[in-house]
Amino acid sequence: MNVLVIGSGGREHAICLKLKESNNLKSLYTVPKNSVFERFSKNIDLSPDDFEGIKDLCIAEKIDLVVVGPEDPLSAGISDYLISKGINVFGPCLKGAVLESSKQLAKEFMDRNYIPTAKFKVFYDFRCAKKYIAELQKFPVVIKADGLCAGKGVRICNNIDEANTAIEDFMEKRIFKGSGMKVIVEECLKGKECSVLALVDGKRYLLLPVARDHKRLNDGNTGPNTGGMGAVCPVDLSTNDIKKIEEEIITNFMNGIRKERIDYRGVIYFGIMMTEDGPKLLEFNVRFGDPETQAILPLVEDDLLDIFYKVASGKLDREKINLKNKYSVCVVLSAKGYPQNPLKGDEISGLDSIDKDITIFYSGIRIENGRYFTSGGRVLSLVGLGDSVDEARRKVYNNIKKIKFEGMHFRTDIGL
Ligand code: AMP
Ligand code: GLY
Repeated sequence: MNVLVIGSGGREHAICLKLKESNNLKSLYTVPKNSVFERFSKNIDLSPDDFEGIKDLCIAEKIDLVVVGPEDPLSAGISDYLISKGINVFGPCLKGAVLESSKQLAKEFMDRNYIPTAKFKVFYDFRCAKKYIAELQKFPVVIKADGLCAGKGVRICNNIDEANTAIEDFMEKRIFKGSGMKVIVEECLKGKECSVLALVDGKRYLLLPVARDHKRLNDGNTGPNTGGMGAVCPVDLSTNDIKKIEEEIITNFMNGIRKERIDYRGVIYFGIMMTEDGPKLLEFNVRFGDPETQAILPLVEDDLLDIFYKVASGKLDREKINLKNKYSVCVVLSAKGYPQNPLKGDEISGLDSIDKDITIFYSGIRIENGRYFTSGGRVLSLVGLGDSVDEARRKVYNNIKKIKFEGMHFRTDIGL
């Protein structure tokens, strides 16, 4: 098969490496232009929002499957467009993609379909939102901008001042533009978080091993929220917890898409809080998590291309995915200033001396004349496997010591 992967971050790097293990892969194409991706794929200079250009590429190169990595092209309708041209796509249609691009629509879907979630209220006017919070006087409270904000549109506010600032930033200053037209004010849930990902072919689902992201910038879960500073997989959930997640969240999601005629084909990511009252759904993502994917996929034994193709064609024919009997730990190295204002252009050294059993996934890196430079907030991640989380951790952290760049930052407690 000829396969096109859209996206050029660490997540897509992990997807590409796994697809390349397949005996069924003929040629791997990627967009957009990226100096890392051109090393292992036919990397084409096309923007992910150039739907027509991507369609032309698919026809010219006889692409059998398109895998869409990021949320932006999905919520702009790339799957609907390519499917209408007869192209197989791994990635949900618009009706599915809104579950990530509108927090309001996601929460309403949860409510209609009996999926446990935090209590919430939607506001269209900043004065109403501020008045509600002043009267509620219950902190912490969670304030979310309705639309896509690259993982930065959620604030956990500990007092009225923080809450008012969030509402001003989202609704008045419009720091996330149209995404702040509405805000969701939500009850703050307590517990441990986990990321549950399932591959869905429209009718059936296949569960991936549960991962845990580490969202805060600094050790001990302190500092601002980020896209994710590291991940561990699998997570120590009990069989009973997994059963509850399947019964109360995944089954209700599957029934919901059936009832609402959403032909969802791709991966669905359930961001779940394990509370004292059972699992509650914080959010949907309609794509793989980053950095969860870098931790999850190296554990998969099966041919991922075969599974993706079956997902895209609505023909999943298995109930379980075969996994290595290992643990994986992924640690992200970020640039100085991330997440607010990451510095770019610093040279990275030491990448050649990394042990053979460690995988490096590149997120924000540019290669020039064989030299590596930072080009984004999350620069790269290192993933190690072990017979225990401790062993995997040790391997990764031993290798991080070898890498250097100006202002390099990472958490030292991933997997602790
Ligand atoms: P979201 O984009 O909705 O997943 O939110 C990003 C992060 O904010 C989540 O991974 C949680 O850590 C946190 N969060 C979101 N909603 C809540 C909530 N209702 N209670 C506590 N934490 C939350
Ligand atoms: N790591 C969280 C996300 O991908 O949204």
